[in-house]
Amino acid sequence: METSGRGNVRPIRYVGDPVLHRPCAPVTRFDEELAALVEDMFASMYAAEGVGLAANQIGVGLSVFVYDCPDETDEFRKGVVVNPTLVTPGSGERRLEDGDEGCLSVPGQRAPLARPDRATVHGFDAAGNPITVEGTGLLARCLQHETDHLEGRLYIDRLPAKRRKQVLEDYRRATSPSTAE
Ligand code: NI
Repeated sequence: METSGRGNVRPIRYVGDPVLHRPCAPVTRFDEELAALVEDMFASMYAAEGVGLAANQIGVGLSVFVYDCPDETDEFRKGVVVNPTLVTPGSGERRLEDGDEGCLSVPGQRAPLARPDRATVHGFDAAGNPITVEGTGLLARCLQHETDHLEGRLYIDRLPAKRRKQVLEDYRRATSPSTAE
């Protein structure tokens, strides 16, 4: 497991926590506070063994996510995106990838969810420079999943209602009553 060497591991917020279910605010200041947040996000993501993490997953309602995730060539790509805007292929050129998806905020659960097999995110790095990230393979799914988080949406919100309910029931059964948080 990689560690960033800096940054503090912060607790992951779980489904039901209001911060996960409302849109995050855009970042307006690219300052030391933002840099420290990004370090904490990397540290928290690696500690939780995730391939992506949105700021609201550690309780901060700002539009930032980090990732360290393989693309379709199995090469890991790592970065941070501030104020992301997602672009997926139009309906004519769109191919859906069936894959299982999970989330650190719904630990222990996975469910199949079809998503476009490529995605592009436009945004800024932690210094405020414009960036574009193009993702294929798992990274395409990750970019969509993390942008969803920042809009207050979990992957389970994209599942058929019955499946969503099942995932939540399984999650609650697995986590209670041993974790009284
Ligand atoms: Ni997630």
